[in-house]
Amino acid sequence: MHAAFYSIIVMKTKGIILAGGSGSRLYPTTAVFSKQLQPVYDKPLIYYPLATLLLAGIREILIISTPRDTPYFEQLLGDGSQWGISLEYIIQSEPKGLAEAFIYGKDFIGQDQVCLILGDNVFYGKLDFLRKAIAENTGGTIFGYHVQDPERYGVVEFGAHGEVLSIEEKPLKPKSNYAIPGLYIFTHDVTEIAPKVQPSARGEVEITEIHNAYLRNNQLRVELMGRGIAWLDTGTPESLLEASTFIHAIEKRQGTKIACLEEIALQMKYITREKYLETVNNLPKSSYRDYCVRVLDEIERESF
Ligand code: DAU
Repeated sequence: MHAAFYSIIVMKTKGIILAGGSGSRLYPTTAVFSKQLQPVYDKPLIYYPLATLLLAGIREILIISTPRDTPYFEQLLGDGSQWGISLEYIIQSEPKGLAEAFIYGKDFIGQDQVCLILGDNVFYGKLDFLRKAIAENTGGTIFGYHVQDPERYGVVEFGAHGEVLSIEEKPLKPKSNYAIPGLYIFTHDVTEIAPKVQPSARGEVEITEIHNAYLRNNQLRVELMGRGIAWLDTGTPESLLEASTFIHAIEKRQGTKIACLEEIALQMKYITREKYLETVNNLPKSSYRDYCVRVLDEIERESF
């Protein structure tokens, strides 16, 4: 049997959204609520990574956040049943690094593979690359995205034949322009690797150490994300504003919404038409609700 097909049927994939952190770079905006609860144009930031997981076919999702913010996420998103998915929550007591996602998430992951997305990463475009990567992953899969300022990110070093030589976290002298977005796929053994990671000089257990562990075992794939995908960063006040402007421009031009979870749940057939109507009827009167009503009308009118 073809390997890719085989992995589609045996590899169940769960999702984790890491939505904690100190948010200090956005102070005072984050003095009361975390970054991932702040708006990106017309909806909270966390809607975007959640939408990415839903569109990738992932329906069991764990949200990890701070003691302060986790109750707000629960209030915002609930148990996910309104969208035909399952949402669970775990508190990370202190922001000690991204690799902790796999320590806190060990029981949740179990024997399945996992797709981790950072709660402040926004992706826009055709997500076929992600569905394919999930289906074909046999160890670790990460992505490379060409940026102007790689020193702000994890960076991939490629050899002369495109092979991956190293992964470095925020290097002063980046060895390429390929940054690693906050979207990673790992087999369940990541839960064994994560506890062995030693804290870095900045005192965090770095995700790049996990990548390097897979790389040493010849089990790391780096897929380049093409120009057709927009990866937006929201780490600074300026990039948060730019993300809002980007989403606004597309939504206004197309008359559609990006990361409308109700619409995605309906399109992905996670909920029936009846459940959709029930979910939408529970939304307060708003342009968001009007949009959801219009979407159903359009789908039923244009069923081609
Ligand atoms: O955005 C992609 C980059 O994300 C990668 O290229 C880097 O390799 C990776 O280390 C990470 O870098 P950042 O400096 O952007 O990570 P930051 O500390 O901002 O955390 C990213 C998200 O994860 C943010 O939403 C906060 C959350 N977080 C962070 C830490 C350290 C947690 O939930 N818990 C944590 O312990």
